[in-house]
Amino acid sequence: MEIVQLHDKAFKKFISNNDIQLSIDKIVEKINVDYTNKRPIFIGVLNGSFLFSADLVKKFSSSCEVAFIQFSSYSGTKSTGNVKELMGLNVDIKNRDVIILEDIVDTGNTLEKLMITLKKHAPSSIKIATLLFKPKAYKKKIPIDYVAIEVGNEFLVGYGLDYDGIGRNLEHIYKIEE
Ligand code: IMP
Ligand code: MG
Repeated sequence: MEIVQLHDKAFKKFISNNDIQLSIDKIVEKINVDYTNKRPIFIGVLNGSFLFSADLVKKFSSSCEVAFIQFSSYSGTKSTGNVKELMGLNVDIKNRDVIILEDIVDTGNTLEKLMITLKKHAPSSIKIATLLFKPKAYKKKIPIDYVAIEVGNEFLVGYGLDYDGIGRNLEHIYKIEE
């Protein structure tokens, strides 16, 4: 499918699932090296990162744990700046090596809130892996350790990303048609 219609907007195919997988392979290669003989806890940020988390952890070659946390900040096609924690962590991360899995880092508001929340639980390290990164929109100083794909400021859907609730199940990533 080249064009998809979601609610009132049309979206054009932008990044194929094949390219997504190749980009994930590249960051997992680094993660595999950095975490040899460690047992990290991957924390996927719901809802957007469910497919990215699933594909990334399948490619990780050592033993690991997987958990999820849920944050929400978007309404329609804009970040509201008001980040809400909808579901907390149900695993003890004290003295553990944590790798956050994000679908997309945009302004960085979600990431900042997440870091503050997780640091309170005293993990021994926290790194961040994101499928997509919007460097022009990013307003924070927190370094992002593993970026699979850098994109512009356009609104994207598919492969976990939604437009007002729909589009997460699309296997490719689509870009809004202006
Ligand atoms: P931030 O807090 O502004 O960095 O936004 C992060 C969250 O907003 C992401 O985890 C997504 O859930 C959502 N988001 C940001 N950009 C997009 C987009 O282009 N499409 C869909 N959701 C997005
Ligand atoms: Mg998200």
